Amino acid sequence: MQPLHIPRKSWLAKTSPLLLAAAVIVVLLPNYSLAASETTKTMLQEFQADAAEPFSASAGLATWNSVANGRSCTSCHTDSVHVDGRHERTGKIIEPMAPSVNPQRLTNRKKINKWFFRNCKWTFGRECTAQEKGDILLWLSQQ
Ligand code: HEC
Repeated sequence: MQPLHIPRKSWLAKTSPLLLAAAVIVVLLPNYSLAASETTKTMLQEFQADAAEPFSASAGLATWNSVANGRSCTSCHTDSVHVDGRHERTGKIIEPMAPSVNPQRLTNRKKINKWFFRNCKWTFGRECTAQEKGDILLWLSQQ
């Protein structure tokens, strides 16, 4: 008579549930902290398709600081992206723009696009080009 064939337990079944849970956490955790850079990465790729030059953080900073008719991005976001800003017209506090101090920043593409549109219009009286948005986004993402 043939001996009963007992299938070998898979490695998964042999691994303790605790170890598996730990592995899952290790795999998932970096995705949370990477949320901002993942969003930025995707958006930079999209902007790049419509921009002639590779993006430059220093060009982004220059655009951020450039003044048109007495207005600039710093009018509301202030001279440092690491501290609270203040809306020039309404006086409302705007939280720091730098993702290093404010991890909520640059995590939501809809929000980023909405405010690029509004704020470029308010500041420069026109929409920003893909080149300008990419340069600024690259610089901001490093702050
Ligand atoms: C009139 C005031 C004002 C000016 C000037 C301004 N912003 Fe803003 N900006 C805001 C407000 C208000 C928000 C949304 C509130 C918030 O997120 O705290 C915002 C949010 C943003 C965001 C969204 C960031 C995120 O992920 O949360 C971006 C990007 C941005 N601004 C870029 C710019 C750029 C680029 C300029 C210059 C062209 C600029 N802003 C000038 C008021 C301003």
